[in-house]
Amino acid sequence: MLGISLGLVGVGMFGQAFIDLFKNHPDVERFALCDLKKDRLKHFAEKHGVSETYHSLDEICCSDIEASATITQPWLHARQAIQAMKSGKHVYTAVPAAKSLEECDALVKTVKQTGMIYMNGETSYFRPENAFCRKKAEDGAFGEFVHCRAEYFHDLSHGLYEVAKNRWGDKWRRDKTGAAPMSHPTHSVCFPVSIMKAHMTEVSAQGFIYPNDDWFRKDTIHKNVFSNETALFKMSNGATALISEFRRIGHLGCERASGVYGTEGSFEHNLAGAVWADKNGKQIVQPTKHHEWLPEPLASNLGGHGGAHAYLVHEFVDSVNRHRLPRINIWETVRYCAPGLVAHQSALQGGRLLKVPDWGDPPEDFYS
Ligand SMILES: NC(=O)c1ccc[n+]([C@@H]2O[C@H](COP(=O)([O-])OP(=O)(O)OC[C@H]3O[C@@H](n4cnc5c(N)ncnc54)[C@H](O)[C@@H]3O)[C@@H](O)[C@H]2O)c1
Repeated sequence: MLGISLGLVGVGMFGQAFIDLFKNHPDVERFALCDLKKDRLKHFAEKHGVSETYHSLDEICCSDIEASATITQPWLHARQAIQAMKSGKHVYTAVPAAKSLEECDALVKTVKQTGMIYMNGETSYFRPENAFCRKKAEDGAFGEFVHCRAEYFHDLSHGLYEVAKNRWGDKWRRDKTGAAPMSHPTHSVCFPVSIMKAHMTEVSAQGFIYPNDDWFRKDTIHKNVFSNETALFKMSNGATALISEFRRIGHLGCERASGVYGTEGSFEHNLAGAVWADKNGKQIVQPTKHHEWLPEPLASNLGGHGGAHAYLVHEFVDSVNRHRLPRINIWETVRYCAPGLVAHQSALQGGRLLKVPDWGDPPEDFYS
């Protein structure tokens, strides 16, 4: 294996955090930066010493670069991933992978048709607590799964107004605000799906309306009034999952599984810390950020979201280099997106029980 060539598309507020991780991965032989915004591109190329640059995803698609890591605005991910895969590129995108069930379907079909490697950058997958629970699950310590409670609490005042201002400048308040919290459900849904290796089958959800909300309003492109949504899911393994996506919340913020319960053991996590418990007692635990081997220099500089950034980068680069199925492949990814999209429809219908579609497990030996 000689290493791969990779272009990072989108060096905005989030993408810039991935420049050094991709550039310094020992299996990335050739690294390029790409952004529509010329000043932004020049600034980051100079700052990180990157000589190869492109001015659009279209240019990357016409180049001989093998893989694109796309960290653009959320509503662009699916169509850009499809464009890149159809141009023969392996693709990583930031979350969410898709904004509609149609996009979920189109992504799965494109991976099947093109045979390209697709991976989603869901940070919750590689959080230390998730890795801890996945290991406990592998060891059978939970017994049969019973229930999982997971949350993504992110009050708008914690940086989300800045994200909007950065994207839309003066126009940011007018009509683009207020996307449904469940349209971005992947940070929470990832926990039960990846820990239990099961998927959501049915949902009933409710929404909360913040009085006189100036962000979640009917007269925006999203026409959504819910600032907070909570959904109760039935899962394919018989367990239940309670998912909360809150954007108006007096809380520091979190992306966590606050409770994972099995017939033999349980895990709880809140602002005070994490605990493993069974029928006989409890043990305070401190899941480590160093839960898997990583190459240097990534191992010494894991990056944000509980160190997840370095693991995401390595998982994608290694999948492309070895031509293997990434753990957060497209079949896994749509299991993080679709449940929230259906949950929002349920909340709009006062909690009506709705079926969650599923695209199945990855075909065996898909990339061999
Ligand atoms: N925990 C997480 O996983 C997490 C955290 C924060 C942000 N995100 C995700 O990261 C993504 C990026 O967020 P952001 O705040 O950096 O956005 P941003 O708006 O600051 O940056 C996006 C960049 O993409 C560029 N871009 C768009 N289309 C392009 C194209 N065709 N060719 C080249 N460049 C193009 C834009 O010019 C812009 O610079 C979002 O989708 C967001 O959901 C994920």
